[in-house]
Amino acid sequence: MFKYTIGIMKILGIESSCDETAASVVEDGYRLLSNVVASSMDLHIQYGGIVPEVAARSHIEVIIPVIKQALSNADCTWEDIDGIAVTYGAGLGGSLLIGVLTARTLAIIHNLPLYAINHVEGHVYANFLIDTTLPGYSLSDRRPVFPMLALIVSGSHTQLALFKDHFDYRLLGQAQDDAIGEAFDKVARLIGLPYPGGPQVEKLAKEGDPNAFILPKARMEGKYDFSFSGPKTAVLRVAQAEAGKSYDFPSLKLSGLLSESQKANIAASFQNSAIETVVDKTIEAFEEFNPASVVIAGGVAASPELRRQLGNRLSQPITYTDPKLCTDNGAMIATLGCFKAKHKQPLADPYTLDIEPSLSM
Ligand code: KG4
Ligand code: ZN
Repeated sequence: MFKYTIGIMKILGIESSCDETAASVVEDGYRLLSNVVASSMDLHIQYGGIVPEVAARSHIEVIIPVIKQALSNADCTWEDIDGIAVTYGAGLGGSLLIGVLTARTLAIIHNLPLYAINHVEGHVYANFLIDTTLPGYSLSDRRPVFPMLALIVSGSHTQLALFKDHFDYRLLGQAQDDAIGEAFDKVARLIGLPYPGGPQVEKLAKEGDPNAFILPKARMEGKYDFSFSGPKTAVLRVAQAEAGKSYDFPSLKLSGLLSESQKANIAASFQNSAIETVVDKTIEAFEEFNPASVVIAGGVAASPELRRQLGNRLSQPITYTDPKLCTDNGAMIATLGCFKAKHKQPLADPYTLDIEPSLSM
């Protein structure tokens, strides 16, 4: 039997699906009490992408201090915590395993209910945080209402989902190849910018002309499906043409031949076209399904250009969550954990919960 505090519920969220080791305490699914994120990104930059073994080793080293810090920042002891929520998929196997085994052990030691969280669903729930005791957060003052259209744009996912209610949604469409964040990262690499590429492309794009190059948008069979592999290759062709090189020239050598203004024009044109692609489909889905609210989620949701284009084109006011809650964090996991607890969703077994690296929505 588990204890439940009547009224107020505090859930500890643990996230370790990629390179961030993160923990957070969220109260009642709307108030953020702490949000600690340790990233091993500095260790991966030299390789131009995440090295799974390095990420897993780093999770092991920092996960306990990160959790302790999250409890301390929330002014909590284990006595105050009503449950643990942990990401069990999708993500890197070794990385997920550290978070899941830690959460399982803590749930057993402290006799707490355990909630298994789908990372991508978790991203959506960052939008339900509307209050915090922490400084430096800009949150929406309104909770999303149902039916809710969610555009999920991250390093590994590009999806449109329609939520009728909590735990009652359908996927309208998704990326059939590269995710939008992955395409940002690859374009960044092509023009010599470090990983992760999205924020770097965003910065350089400010210096460039978004209409310098007209990039193709993929036509998909599924109305709400996406493809970013073709547009990414189109950017490679532009870079080759600008550098005066043929198709077989090594792509990683191109950046050395491009001027700063050529690179800025490539960054601006790609950003404009990739963002327009996801906004086009979001607007189409909005017109077809007439949702009561629209949310954006995942790392690319931090993009000011996405916020600008969507805000300009949507006929309904939209609010966005703090960019710090768009990239991977424990708060989104804790928030969804709170709703799982409130809605009496099935508990995970702390003795058997396994990871699901290719879990989908
Ligand atoms: O959600 P996330 O932290 O990790 C995954 O679950 O994949 O998303 C990371 C992705 C990376 O591809 C990164 O380049 C992209 O989000 N990203 C951005 C921006 N900030 C992060 N992409 C475009 N503009 C940004 N400002
Ligand atoms: Zn993520």
